[in-house]
Amino acid sequence: MPRTTGTYRPTAIAGRTVDAFLPAPLPPANPPLDLAGPVAPLLQEAQAAIERLRLAGQLVPSIDWFIYGFVRKEALISSQIEGTQATLEDVFEFEATERSDRPDDVEEVCNYVAALTYARRELARPKGVPISTRLLCEAHKRLMRGVRGANKDSGSLRKVQNWIGGRGPDSIRFVPPPPDAVADAMHELDRWIHSDDPIDPLVKAGLAHVQFETIHPFLDGNGRIGRLLIALLLEHWGVLDEPLLYISAAIRREQAAYYERLAAVRTDGDWEGWTAFFLRCVRVAADDGVAVATRLSALVSEDRKRLARLPGATLGAVQLFDILPEHPVVTAPLVQDLLKASAPTARRSIAVLQNAGILSVTTGKLRDRAFIYREYVKSLTGDDRSERVASSMDRVNARFGQAMKRLSE
Ligand SMILES: Nc1ncnc2c1ncn2[C@@H]1O[C@H](COP(=O)(O)OP(=O)(O)O)[C@@H](O)[C@H]1O
Ligand SMILES: [Mg+2]
Repeated sequence: MPRTTGTYRPTAIAGRTVDAFLPAPLPPANPPLDLAGPVAPLLQEAQAAIERLRLAGQLVPSIDWFIYGFVRKEALISSQIEGTQATLEDVFEFEATERSDRPDDVEEVCNYVAALTYARRELARPKGVPISTRLLCEAHKRLMRGVRGANKDSGSLRKVQNWIGGRGPDSIRFVPPPPDAVADAMHELDRWIHSDDPIDPLVKAGLAHVQFETIHPFLDGNGRIGRLLIALLLEHWGVLDEPLLYISAAIRREQAAYYERLAAVRTDGDWEGWTAFFLRCVRVAADDGVAVATRLSALVSEDRKRLARLPGATLGAVQLFDILPEHPVVTAPLVQDLLKASAPTARRSIAVLQNAGILSVTTGKLRDRAFIYREYVKSLTGDDRSERVASSMDRVNARFGQAMKRLSE
């Protein structure tokens, strides 16, 4: 007999009465979460992969590069799950320049980076905001700043009933708690996150994510803030010494299963099924992190050697090369600024790296003005969909009806 996962309460959507779902507080109960069954080996594998990632983190030339790149990749992919068309190249280009024609898609991803960076800083500050509804609201405010879906409710818990599914009430698949129950449900979640429940932190982060998605406390941005919460919890609980584990790419590869597993927790109380799915994603994410770190380290050391041997290499060019991992797209003014160099030196350094085949002009609107370390960006994304492959159909599905995705595949 499946466990009870919550209660239903009638609520109104577009003049129709439907049942809103109020999840029971965590942890799963009656029976408690079974971590001895099929989940056990998955937890071990995930932990072993994390240990490999920890070691890889110690071997890389600079941990800051990786955190820089990984955070942007996470922001991009988590946003891609929700249908963004932006690419990493767009994001780096946007960060390197003061573009006035900010496409919404790119701004969304940059906002995600800002939200994650903000939250990480708060958690690192002795008197910063702890992981809490308040922190997530602050992150949400930053995520929604100036983009579609932003409104006066950005940064606060919703005051209206929402639902998951298509646009019209006919395609409702799941109705989260009524607005008057959201604050309490979030408060319960906060309490459990900070409780001394001895459950493994990896598993705990996964359970917290489901609960957050089920409460769906915001009008929009729940998927992204919920995945950001995973990154924060893993960092906060010290799963790794350095924040190198990001899970969105693994989730995206199994996007249909992701939605199914979330839904099955509510419909069947299948917390074990979710946990198995989540731990597999953790393992994939950790292995991916190792692969990317290895690829990037090799690329940078080879390119650096090659550059040093190049007849026309200059000190400026080498200095520029050394900052590229944290600025994979540069413009002449940015280089001038970062290297505290003259305009001719900046231009010359860029030209040397162009000659060496390290920098090339970006393909965006800034043709001939912005330069990208393309191999680096490619290695960062690896086999992930770094290109604009999501068709417009994908985009519509992602935004308005996740289940439709399954049907169209
Ligand atoms: N059946 C479900 N139960 C709970 N959460 C779900 C379910 N299906 C999808 N979700 C979550 O809802 C998110 C989408 O919510 P939304 O507020 O639009 O977030 P965003 O704007 O970041 O896309 C998905 O990414 C997923 O995390
Ligand atoms: Mg959305």
